[in-house]
Amino acid sequence: MGNVILTGFMGCGKTSVGLKLSYRLRRTVIDTDREIEREEKRTISDIFAADGESYFRDRETVCLRKLIESAGNQIISVGGGLPLREENRRLLHELGQVFYLRATGETIYARLKGDTTRPLLQGEDPQSKIETLLRERDPFYREAADVVIEVDGKSFEEILSEIEEKVTEA
Ligand code: S3P
Repeated sequence: MGNVILTGFMGCGKTSVGLKLSYRLRRTVIDTDREIEREEKRTISDIFAADGESYFRDRETVCLRKLIESAGNQIISVGGGLPLREENRRLLHELGQVFYLRATGETIYARLKGDTTRPLLQGEDPQSKIETLLRERDPFYREAADVVIEVDGKSFEEILSEIEEKVTEA
């Protein structure tokens, strides 16, 4: 399929890295969250509030299946929870080369504190929620990934160069 796929926890930089990478590699960029919002004509927060997380997770799988039909040679950033489903990890591998942008809880908390657009991090103690989810999810992100990129303390330039060096999908 020749796609470059960016995964990782919320706030790890998938969307920004995806945009910058699209200029560097001259490929278009797609974001599964934005695709789902466009198709559903409502925000992720509204989808979670009205229909719940499992409805959203089904939409993610449908979105991946559609991308397998249509996307080639693109950069695809995917929602932070998408690689948790076994089927989705298999679909990701079918879709292209998967990069896991790995950040620590500290970095993520610093970037996302005050954010109101991630339903899973609303509530009392987002910092410990981040740590718990990260610990649970890291093995799945690793399993889904062809390449792990540690992003903590690195500039965009460093991250982009590392990805570019490792891209094998033509
Ligand atoms: C989620 C991550 C979000 C979005 C939804 C659920 C998650 O995407 O899909 O809020 O479960 O980690 P980003 O990783 O782009 O923030």
